[in-house]
Amino acid sequence: MLSGKHILLGVSGGIAAYKSALLVREFVRAGAEVQVVMTPAATRFITPLTLGTLSRRNVIIEMFPSGSGEQERQWTAHIDCALWAHLMLVAPATADTLAGIAHGFAGTFLAATALALRCPLAVAPSMDVDMYRHPATQENLGILRRRGVHVLEPEEGELASGLVGAGRLPEPAVVCRWVEGLLAPPPQDFLGRHLLVTAGPTHEPIDPVRFIGNRSSGKTGFALAAAAAERGAHVTLIAGPVHLPTPPGVHRVDVTTGREMYGAVMEAFPQSDALIMSAAVADFTPAEPSGRKIKKEALPEEGYALALIQNPDILKAAARSRRRQVLVGFALETENGLENARAKLSSKNLDLVVLNNPLEDGAGFGTDTNIVTLISAGGNAISLPKLPKADVAHRILDAVAPLIS
Ligand code: C5P
Repeated sequence: MLSGKHILLGVSGGIAAYKSALLVREFVRAGAEVQVVMTPAATRFITPLTLGTLSRRNVIIEMFPSGSGEQERQWTAHIDCALWAHLMLVAPATADTLAGIAHGFAGTFLAATALALRCPLAVAPSMDVDMYRHPATQENLGILRRRGVHVLEPEEGELASGLVGAGRLPEPAVVCRWVEGLLAPPPQDFLGRHLLVTAGPTHEPIDPVRFIGNRSSGKTGFALAAAAAERGAHVTLIAGPVHLPTPPGVHRVDVTTGREMYGAVMEAFPQSDALIMSAAVADFTPAEPSGRKIKKEALPEEGYALALIQNPDILKAAARSRRRQVLVGFALETENGLENARAKLSSKNLDLVVLNNPLEDGAGFGTDTNIVTLISAGGNAISLPKLPKADVAHRILDAVAPLIS
């Protein structure tokens, strides 16, 4: 599976470093060439001799080796390593190493190499449960995920400290399969298909400077657009007001209001094979937005009522004019999720509903992960674990692919 692949394995100083010997063996057995890079702390847990023997390459530890037994190297070795790699995996990735990479420190050979990469970076955090749960570590992981770094969630269980919780490095075979998945080319199951994806919030103007909006970040819709493009689709992404970069190969149309989104979707819908409505469209909009800034002095002191009218329901309108298109809606529910999502499925005539609860930890708006349940028209419900939004996107597409005729 990894034949001809160059894997740069960064080992940092945690007790799980003992597993890296078996990890190197797994990679080599799968056909990869492995270059091991260790932090000095990692050498306290496992010897460079062991990892060097298994990988059949000299292990690199110091930026400037002096009497460490390492061979003379060019001082640019970190650049050479970074350019050689098809993927760098840091496993185990300690709290300190993660923090260093997240904040761009280059104080060790491992960290300097991670900064110089042009290939994907993957990390497998492993540490004691409280260090893992600490907001500093979680924020650093958030920074890395936002940058596109692949994060392998640690397993829960007994830790070297005797505590029980999340922090264990998964078994080497599991880590190896994960890396194989990262390096496998994505399936081209959407080749020749046109996917229409909406993302983000809408802003409904009250006057030229004020609006009614919501907290949607657009991350899920952008992840869906990116994943569909990777899988060969021609993607039109209709984005509400968000500051996210356009994924490669995606045609983006920016809109502001729900009505504009309705217009943009209706224009592109006839040419599409599927519509995925991940946007959080405002249900209501001010009836008469003012052309000028509303002055406080012009309003009654005791307050005033803002008249709202309903926005067109884009999914319902699309369902009315559909021919062959697959329709996917999102249901953001804080209570009676399954019941409400099933009701939405039938009332909007959808093929699939993605249910999530923004009140769950690691789910909903703004986060980099989500916890969703996929409910299909047949009534089938598949609950997915907490996953990065990119993985959620692929799982949604896995469910959409067989629905497109
Ligand atoms: O009815 P509700 O707003 O809860 O349904 C959510 C789903 O409907 C989402 O997929 C959303 O994108 C879509 N929607 C729509 N047009 C609207 C409001 C929501 O297509 N005006």
